[in-house]
Amino acid sequence: MLKEFKNVKVNYEADAIIDIGGKSYKIHDCIEGEDILVETEGKYPSLAKIIQPSLYRIQDGCPYQKECGGCQFMHMEYRYELEQKKKYLNELFKGIKNIPPIEIIPSFEYYHYRNKSQMTYKLSKTKRIVCGFYEEYSHRLITVDNCMLQAERANLVIRELNKILSKHKIRPYDEKTKEGILRHVLIRYGYQTKELMLVLVTNGEMFPGRNNVIKDLMKLNLNITTIVQNFNARDTSIVLGDKNKVLYGTGYIYEKIGDYRFKISPNSFFQVNSLSMKKLYTLALNQANIKKTDIVLDAYCGVGTISIFASKYAKEVIGVELSKSAIQDAIGNVKMNHITNVSFICDDATNYITHAAKAKTNFDILIMDPPREGSTPQFIEALSYLKPKKVIYISCNPITLKRDLNIFKDIDYKITSILGFDNFPKTKHIEVITVLELRK
Ligand SMILES: C[S@@+](CC[C@H](N)C(=O)[O-])C[C@H]1O[C@@H](n2cnc3c(N)ncnc32)[C@H](O)[C@@H]1O
Repeated sequence: MLKEFKNVKVNYEADAIIDIGGKSYKIHDCIEGEDILVETEGKYPSLAKIIQPSLYRIQDGCPYQKECGGCQFMHMEYRYELEQKKKYLNELFKGIKNIPPIEIIPSFEYYHYRNKSQMTYKLSKTKRIVCGFYEEYSHRLITVDNCMLQAERANLVIRELNKILSKHKIRPYDEKTKEGILRHVLIRYGYQTKELMLVLVTNGEMFPGRNNVIKDLMKLNLNITTIVQNFNARDTSIVLGDKNKVLYGTGYIYEKIGDYRFKISPNSFFQVNSLSMKKLYTLALNQANIKKTDIVLDAYCGVGTISIFASKYAKEVIGVELSKSAIQDAIGNVKMNHITNVSFICDDATNYITHAAKAKTNFDILIMDPPREGSTPQFIEALSYLKPKKVIYISCNPITLKRDLNIFKDIDYKITSILGFDNFPKTKHIEVITVLELRK
């Protein structure tokens, strides 16, 4: 049955909130004020038609949007998306007094900006191997071979690889039967260097037909610089296992950001939006206002990108990171860029900072860029002993950032600015740079 809803109210994730028989439902991919037609039968009500589209709706969006759910803002103009993100941040942080209104810095590109693609394999109805993304909140795989966020080069490799895998009858891994070989593919692309890394994630070390796949891939001259097999036999949603076997090339690629070159291995974190990375770091470091006499701690440093960008302003930079692979890359990156005032420690950031506080180590500036889960209360509390004069908190999750900023309230820091940075266009995700200063 079809039901019309006029002038809908929409939440931050672009869901119209509608009421059917006293029950509230979310209808994806809407824009505030639109008139919509909803199919009310079926497991959940779904969008049947937009009767009166918003002026901000665009028609050339992604054909997979309805099913895939990865891009909440694909159907709206970019300037409107930025307005929504700005509104969201100002609303979320409205309790923080004496800071200027939060602005949002746009991304350089809003399509095909992702340097990292991660997809899962399955067998199609016609018995061909295909890959795609899981539908939101489900284990149904949506076949995608032309994602509008991934690098176009990665999409091309995915399509060619699918043909080759089908030709050699490579069997995708089936989660239910636990049979088959190939689970996921991970592609990393260097936008400046044009280097391409292909990681084939298998359910174990066995990979019959592997050499034929590589031979056919290399014949296509797609500039694949390295191919790695990653073993992941675990029953989790984590894509990569811990063990890699290099099948072709060196096992890593390089990317150039600003004046620096970075080595990236399969398991190391690297910001996904290469095109905006220099802008993000420049904005963060401008706010840090580092002096030539300053010692900087770069906590959660990944492959050392921020440490390396900060090195030219500081006396010394120390990077701390949990991942061994990232630290190995970071050490290599410092050498490759001829930098002599940066060193790295492989440790849990909370463990490191707690010991540094006990040892009364001196840090003038702290830059922290934790994963989505945010930092820990112990990490933040240690700052009341270390007392860096400034903290730059870079976060890719405003919710955990808000939680962590609440802990800062209880120690001697005041928030002086919050800035949104659109590192993830077309999706609900936002990067945020917060500046905190030690009270005098
Ligand atoms: C958002 S990334 C930031 C990396 C880097 N600052 C950059 O811009 O590329 C977060 C990093 O924190 C690391 N990490 C996760 N948990 C950690 C922990 N408990 N201690 C230290 N590092 C951790 C991850 O491996 C990842 O490299």
